[in-house]
Amino acid sequence: MTDYRMDRVLTKNLILSNVTKTFGPMTALDAVGLAVGPGERVALIGHNGAGKSTLMKIILGLISTDAGEVTVRGAAPGSGVARQHVAYLPENVAFHPALTGLETVRTYMRLKGEDPSGAMALLERVDLGAAAKRRIGTYSKGMRQRIGLAQALIGHPRLLVLDEPTSGLDPVSRREFYNMLDVLAAEGASILLSSHALTEVEARTDRIAILSRGRLVADDTLSGLRRRANLPTHLHVRARPGSADAVAAELSGWRYNGTMVELACAPDEKLARLGTIAGLGAQVEDVEVIPPSLEDIYSHFSQIAADGGTP
Ligand SMILES: Nc1ncnc2c1ncn2[C@@H]1O[C@H](COP(=O)(O)OP(=O)(O)OP(=O)(O)O)[C@@H](O)[C@H]1O
Ligand SMILES: [Mg+2]
Repeated sequence: MTDYRMDRVLTKNLILSNVTKTFGPMTALDAVGLAVGPGERVALIGHNGAGKSTLMKIILGLISTDAGEVTVRGAAPGSGVARQHVAYLPENVAFHPALTGLETVRTYMRLKGEDPSGAMALLERVDLGAAAKRRIGTYSKGMRQRIGLAQALIGHPRLLVLDEPTSGLDPVSRREFYNMLDVLAAEGASILLSSHALTEVEARTDRIAILSRGRLVADDTLSGLRRRANLPTHLHVRARPGSADAVAAELSGWRYNGTMVELACAPDEKLARLGTIAGLGAQVEDVEVIPPSLEDIYSHFSQIAADGGTP
């Protein structure tokens, strides 16, 4: 390994390069490259069967690759060093229903060589303090998910690999969950999470990696993806009652919902269009700028990949 590459390995908690995995005739991952540095929260998104869970299991060392290289804190996946630093929340987490939350977390702490006396503090961190002494069989889905998260937080991991961690959580729990990730990232942990909930991913992660049929078709910040996709921005203009037709004609927009006028423009035309709208003076009551959502961007990149193009 050259010095340059060694530097990169040591400054990133996770590096994948050219990772390929096949299951019989099916290519689950096709030359995937991805790096996650300390403090970064990266979302892995993609359709069912895109390869997200497979990628995560490779990072954990649970399944092998056919080709390519993976390093976790400079070490091989599944090695002692890697296992010491990585936490994993699997897609379908299951715990023994007869054990209480506290007993479960204590057991996992012992398995990881940690002092089990910290179990209660960990349960309080995921808001399960009050339910700690109840059997897991009596927990709701969201509570079981939080036990999974408490298990993943044992031993201050430097890389958290979370497979659809918020599925089954209600909106408040989701927000609290992301708040917790923010704290961990601020402490220097790397976070790789998969999700189908694009709105929360859009707001709460630093970078978005899009997998489509095993290929990584995009890996960038939301604003970087927006720039590359170059999808139209929509402007929703509320005209003063009686002025909607004139405003629609002036802006070459289309009317909807009584006094509303909508228009679409390229991202770099947005300021000029806003200037024109402001020039209409009292005819306009309000304007709202709607940038393309992650869902639009995701469809864009997935479609290009499905058509066989290079995004
Ligand atoms: N052990 C296995 N044997 C055979 N095929 C597998 C195996 N594991 C995964 N696959 C296949 O690899 C592809 C990727 O699966 P994977 O579970 O990684 O998708 P995913 O992106 O996590 O999907 P989802 O959003 O549904 O969880 C799928 O076509 C799946 O059927
Ligand atoms: Mg999956």
